[in-house]
Amino acid sequence: MEEYSKLLLANKAWAQERLELDEDYFNNLSKDQKPLFLWIGCADSRVPAEVVTHAQPGEVFVHRNVANLVVHTDINLLSVLQYAVEVLKVKHVIVCGHYGCGGVKAAMGNSDLGLINKWLRNIKEVYNKHNYELNNVSDENLRFDRLVELNVEEQVKNLSKTSIIQKAWSNRDLPHLHGWVFDMKTGIIKEIINIEAHSEIEAIFKYNFENEEENTYS
Ligand code: CO
Repeated sequence: MEEYSKLLLANKAWAQERLELDEDYFNNLSKDQKPLFLWIGCADSRVPAEVVTHAQPGEVFVHRNVANLVVHTDINLLSVLQYAVEVLKVKHVIVCGHYGCGGVKAAMGNSDLGLINKWLRNIKEVYNKHNYELNNVSDENLRFDRLVELNVEEQVKNLSKTSIIQKAWSNRDLPHLHGWVFDMKTGIIKEIINIEAHSEIEAIFKYNFENEEENTYS
């Protein structure tokens, strides 16, 4: 059997199983989605959002990329974020990284990897920002783990720097932002950072929406 056929077979079995438990399952699933969470995770196959959180279809809106980055020029991420925040009105945005992340590891090295250099550059900037702390960690594995955590922290802060999040905070005091790291050696998620809606952010990154409106209507 072709390897991919296994997935299609498993899908049929899964659908059948769901129907046996609840004959209206797909009628209900196809009606609407009201997820409370947006998950921004790594593309790594070992960190599937719904599996590690025991979530069901409909519960988590998901975006994944290499090393769970929030890049302010990434139209893909920003489109997902805008839809999740403004239309689905999620209450929580979670950035979930993981120890042993290949993207973070690659960014710590000096190999020329072609196109992905440009993506990993974002992580090198995180390293550079926390240069002092990281260079004082002599054990390379511990330094790697710490960069995974700092990367998550910076990506959560990047969320708070977007006009999408700031506008939502001024309109409805949501969503809250969370940074997590999944440890695949234990299966447990560690909380790294929580940023409540309306938290103070650095002045230079603040947008003033009132002024914007005044300008629009004047
Ligand atoms: Co990864």
